[in-house]
Amino acid sequence: MSDYVVAIDQGTTSTRAIVFDRTGSIISVGQKEHEQIMPQAGWVEHDAAEIWQNVQEVIGIALGRADLTRHDVASIGITNQRETTVVWNRKTGEPVYNAIVWQDTRTQDIVDRLAADGGTDRFKPVVGLPLTTYFSGSKIAWILENVEGARAAAEAGDLLFGTTDSWVVWNLTGGPDGGKHLTDVTNASRTLFMDLETLEWREDILEAFGVPLSMMPEIKSSSEIYGYAEDSSLLRETPISGILGDQQAATFGQAAFGAGESKNTYGTGCFLIFNTGEDIVHSQNGLLTTVGYKLGDGPAHYALEGSIAVTGSLIQWLRDQLGIIQTAPEVEELAASVPDNGGVYIVPAFSGLFAPYWRPDARGAIVGLTRYANKGHIARAALEAVAFQTRDVLDAVNADAGVDLTELRVDGGMVANNELMQFQADVLGVPVVRPVVAETTALGAAYAAGLAVGFWKDLGELSENWQEDRRWEPAMEQDEQERQLRLWRRAVTKSMDWVD
Ligand code: G3P
Repeated sequence: MSDYVVAIDQGTTSTRAIVFDRTGSIISVGQKEHEQIMPQAGWVEHDAAEIWQNVQEVIGIALGRADLTRHDVASIGITNQRETTVVWNRKTGEPVYNAIVWQDTRTQDIVDRLAADGGTDRFKPVVGLPLTTYFSGSKIAWILENVEGARAAAEAGDLLFGTTDSWVVWNLTGGPDGGKHLTDVTNASRTLFMDLETLEWREDILEAFGVPLSMMPEIKSSSEIYGYAEDSSLLRETPISGILGDQQAATFGQAAFGAGESKNTYGTGCFLIFNTGEDIVHSQNGLLTTVGYKLGDGPAHYALEGSIAVTGSLIQWLRDQLGIIQTAPEVEELAASVPDNGGVYIVPAFSGLFAPYWRPDARGAIVGLTRYANKGHIARAALEAVAFQTRDVLDAVNADAGVDLTELRVDGGMVANNELMQFQADVLGVPVVRPVVAETTALGAAYAAGLAVGFWKDLGELSENWQEDRRWEPAMEQDEQERQLRLWRRAVTKSMDWVD
């Protein structure tokens, strides 16, 4: 009897394998960071071969730490950074170019070209997304237009596209030797090419981008047996039976299965997802419409999403580019060295501004500087920017939903920061709640994989695993909250209209 499920979390900055037991508790973790390749301003790439290598290594580390073999593992779930685009040759298994990461803005010209005929909301009624550089569509088009030989190879049927879930599954199931080329509905819903109603690729939209249908993976549900790990892998013959884009996985791991439930994940960026059940709700307030999950033959569940591009990566920027901290957790101490932000606000519009503004012309701004400001104020302003951006998205969710959220479930690395979570509750004006297992992204993928093989019986059993760890109640005076929000919003306006 296998007592564990392994989740592979292929994220923006690192890849992890996490072993979960039946109660949803973490047994062991393997983790490796990969290089962030930034050849020029606005470009962000990953080496897909390095990512695949890391996937194999972290599985070995996680199994080794818990002293487990493949016989102990009932199934494998995969969750991933969404939108990041890999194009590879189906015969050789070689990527034709580095993976173009979701934060990359190089494709603005392609986006503008497509928007010239019908505006940025041209495909939104069908796919739920505005035309922006964020999604995979323009990234695939860029590779076909700019990598020598790529267009001809694609038209000859030799190239495959995938987000990193597809890349990992294809390699895990044999690569050039019979690898399965597929993705799940949640990842497919981030390409700009999937019809939200039919859950199929739209050939007319693919054509508008110049992307051959033969490159696209088969769209599957989020929970079913897709295939088995191949012979040479450590988990050989283990079923691969769950795939969810990382934000949808976190929602699933938070047991936010029903309409009206939500979560906010604090990772490289922040992503607030609001479950709308089986209804496709089109936002009037700058949110995306996306697929939340689909279990086997069951109906698709949809969601509204507020995507914020830069939160945790702002702290990495303080570490790597400014050098004012040595490790990311030090930001908490540095921020606590000053009593308040000293009037300093940071708008981290490194990839333009995402939800709810969608302003590709915005760039990062630090405003309110005086001779008094020091690195403590900068650290504090960076953390506060995370909370303010979440407030902007929550306002959009409340406006679209027509009712106000009464609390916010949170997860991800930054929720270990108590000061930040208190400030978050203060600027939201509602309680912020953290579960015992804050690694909800990997947990959600494990749940999807385990459900497909009967490791867990149903959603009710999963809901019982959810337990509250800590709750932060709002404590800021209303006048002060309003003053902070007023200054933040003024700072946001300063970041706009920057790109020539
Ligand atoms: O849409 C991008 C998102 O999926 C990336 O998530 O956790 O890798 O920052 P994360």
